[in-house]
Amino acid sequence: MQGRKILFGITGSVAAFKVAGWVSSLVKEDAQVTVMMTEAATHFVTPLTFGALSGHQVYTDMFSIGAEEMMAHITLSGDADAILIAPATAQTIARLAQGMADNLLSAAVLAAAAPVVVCPAMNTKMLAHPATQRNLATLQELGYLIVEPESGSLACGEVGSGRLAEWETVREVLQRLFAEQDLTQQQVLITAGPTREALDPARYLSNRSSGKMGYALARTARRRGAQVTLISGPTNLPVPPEVNLILVQTAAEMAEAVREHAPAAHIIIKAAAVADFRPKEVASLKIKKQDADLQLDLVPNQDILATLGRERRSDQILIGFAAESNNHEDEGRRKLEAKKADMIVVNDILGKRTGFDVDTNQVTLITRDGAEQLALLSKEETANSIWDKVMTLGKVAKNEAE
Ligand code: PMT
Repeated sequence: MQGRKILFGITGSVAAFKVAGWVSSLVKEDAQVTVMMTEAATHFVTPLTFGALSGHQVYTDMFSIGAEEMMAHITLSGDADAILIAPATAQTIARLAQGMADNLLSAAVLAAAAPVVVCPAMNTKMLAHPATQRNLATLQELGYLIVEPESGSLACGEVGSGRLAEWETVREVLQRLFAEQDLTQQQVLITAGPTREALDPARYLSNRSSGKMGYALARTARRRGAQVTLISGPTNLPVPPEVNLILVQTAAEMAEAVREHAPAAHIIIKAAAVADFRPKEVASLKIKKQDADLQLDLVPNQDILATLGRERRSDQILIGFAAESNNHEDEGRRKLEAKKADMIVVNDILGKRTGFDVDTNQVTLITRDGAEQLALLSKEETANSIWDKVMTLGKVAKNEAE
């Protein structure tokens, strides 16, 4: 979002109070937010609120501003990277569908070259009315991006569709608008999270993987246009939108899901923390506590990455991770060779802000051409840097294949 210019149109819905948090989030991500409000919107939240949050003048009406800004509807939309209209009332949706320009917001949209994102919010019956549905269909035909309202309890006390979409959903739409679409046509397969190897009906062996790294790879790949299949062990993370999610528990289930989906993939990234071993026996009843020591016999699981390395096609790109506590680069290089991967992403699992279950990571990208250590970044920025690197590998792999 950094540096992105967002023209934020707010209309007369009681949900207008919700988007104050949206403006604040965008500003925190260093976006430049300029707010336009319809006259009706100012009855729900004062322009002062949005002026304070955005740090810029709030525009409410094209006739109530100084002469020097008489062309605000042109200048405001002229250099916007996106126009976000939230909440969007039935009235504003109707105005936009008809191409009207009788207030600053609708005039600015008409004058805009930037993409327009519309977030409807209204009473369920108003949303379902054929006139509103026809207007929304017209906006889609005009190329506007409609972020579907959610279902739930509405301000009018009813329960049903018409509730303003959640900010995370809308943020994802904006991120995709701003992301370079350099992964279109790519089928991407990602594994994420831990596996659970049962001991008895109550207990299992697992690890500290939260899935955050793999989910960040899935989210960022989708934004950049890829078709993403995410094979995930148990996590508490929200499902990244428009990703084909396959949930598994054990290493064996993950291996089977990978075997099924790997052939169709152009790029495979194995970020999952797959258990190397599982109990030799799984007790059918809960193991009772005894005073004596308990001996566990473990047997090895399939090394999925090594199997992929042996079986993949030359036109596929195979990326593994390495969770190391020491000898990071040597271990990463060893795995690169041993697993026949194109790249190994090494991360330190002892660091407080790297590896398992934190929102940041500092990785070293190891390829046949050398090692590149990235800075300490968010897992989302780390994921984007990994994709940037993959794009160069992608060229290399295709050139070699030619
Ligand atoms: O999920 P988070 O909380 O965000 O944490 C991220 C992470 C630390 C889990 C992630 O960045 C990471 O390092 N994932 C790999 C963890 C792991 O299993 O590393 P490893 O060095 O043990 O395995 C090496 C590679 O072989 C990995 O790509 C792994 O997916 C793969 N593997 C391992 C064992 C196995 N039986 N089959 C495999 O395919």
